[in-house]
Amino acid sequence: MLTVETPRLLFISTPTSVMRTRLALADFLAEIAVGPCATAGPDGRLTVHFPEEWPGEDALRMFPIWVARRDRTPDPGPWCDGVVVRREDRLAVGSMGFKSPPDATGTVEIGYAVNRSLWGRGYATETVAAIVASALAQPDVRRVTAECLQSNPASARVLEKSGFQGVGQRSSVEGELLLWECRVPVADRPPVEAPVAGELGGPAAGRA
Ligand SMILES: CC(C)(COP(=O)(O)OP(=O)(O)OC[C@H]1O[C@@H](n2cnc3c(N)ncnc32)[C@H](O)[C@@H]1OP(=O)(O)O)[C@@H](O)C(=O)NCCC(=O)NCCS
Repeated sequence: MLTVETPRLLFISTPTSVMRTRLALADFLAEIAVGPCATAGPDGRLTVHFPEEWPGEDALRMFPIWVARRDRTPDPGPWCDGVVVRREDRLAVGSMGFKSPPDATGTVEIGYAVNRSLWGRGYATETVAAIVASALAQPDVRRVTAECLQSNPASARVLEKSGFQGVGQRSSVEGELLLWECRVPVADRPPVEAPVAGELGGPAAGRA
């Protein structure tokens, strides 16, 4: 599990129970354990409002697959999908995360989406930048990658603003995809500034 706080947002690995509930209900409240962090307070629990437009069409289509995967591997560690919660009102505003653990080359790929009614407020950039910094701070990660459709300039802009560089393109059934990567040499790795909670970095930094 991974918890990362940014000035406005909190990224938390999506609990399996939340995915199951979303498959049955469109709009609900759920209390989730996020670990000790400023948003949750000392008990490390948070009641989050999941609105109908969360997590977006693509992630919702994947939920049955992700739930089945969690049934096989109940604790995927930090390398899984997450929910982005707006700290001021505990509203789930986005869905993003890592598609799988780092491969043999130290590469992890991210995916991201923000509730349509909340586009253009910088939520994707704020969260992508924070989770990428968190990933690159891990010793087994050398590179974070992402793909976006050429026809999706907002997505490309999020990656540019988050420090990614275009490294090529490929064709897919959905259209032409732009390939992006973000890598930081170990010696130049900046500290992860976002306050985070969890086992990899102690009570106020890392992954829960
Ligand atoms: C892509 C997505 C995540 C962006 O979320 P967001 O919270 O609106 O992103 P941000 O506000 O952080 O940044 C968006 C940037 O794109 C820019 N942008 C938006 N529409 C644009 C367009 N048509 N052309 C060029 N730039 C555009 C915004 O101006 C902003 O850049 P700026 O800060 O320099 O002005 C959101 O649109 C989304 O969820 N889309 C559906 C899922 C998706 O496409 N995911 C990406 C899969 S690769």
